[in-house]
Amino acid sequence: MSELQPKSKTALYKEIERSFEGILHDKEIPWETALVSLIALLKDSFETLSWVGFYRNVDRHLWVGPYQGKLACLHLKPGQGVCGRALESENSVLVEDVHQFEGHVACDPLARSELVVPVYRKLESGRTLVGVFDLDSHKAANFDAEDQKSIERLLKAIERLPDAMSYS
Ligand code: SME
Repeated sequence: MSELQPKSKTALYKEIERSFEGILHDKEIPWETALVSLIALLKDSFETLSWVGFYRNVDRHLWVGPYQGKLACLHLKPGQGVCGRALESENSVLVEDVHQFEGHVACDPLARSELVVPVYRKLESGRTLVGVFDLDSHKAANFDAEDQKSIERLLKAIERLPDAMSYS
């Protein structure tokens, strides 16, 4: 295969998983440190990603957290947009064409497709839905079941990480 041939999605996810495993294997890190690193790995690996990041669930309102991309909508009301739908349904939502999704919130007018995955953490208090992970593309139908499964798997890998480390 020529060096100039673009890498397949499967190959890119394998690379990301390997790098991410390396980060997680080194030592236990705080959950948000792992999350931010995952966002950087994804944004850097996929040219077709225009925005990738996290919205935090605060009483079913979503507030923007760590992300890479253009300035995003800061707040989404309960059930609002693709993100609100994913949070309410507690299921990933894959949108091939955002223009066909009623209620889509266009933070970036060039956005054409989107994937939103609910984010869980396993804390002492139990399994908690802490927010959603959102990926946007300017390309229509950029995301498929492989993206969904890969992102779900990557997020599962950090579910049990703590908020902060104790050095005592
Ligand atoms: N498009 C999202 C809003 C968040 S931005 O894409 C960063 C939605 O409809 O929920």
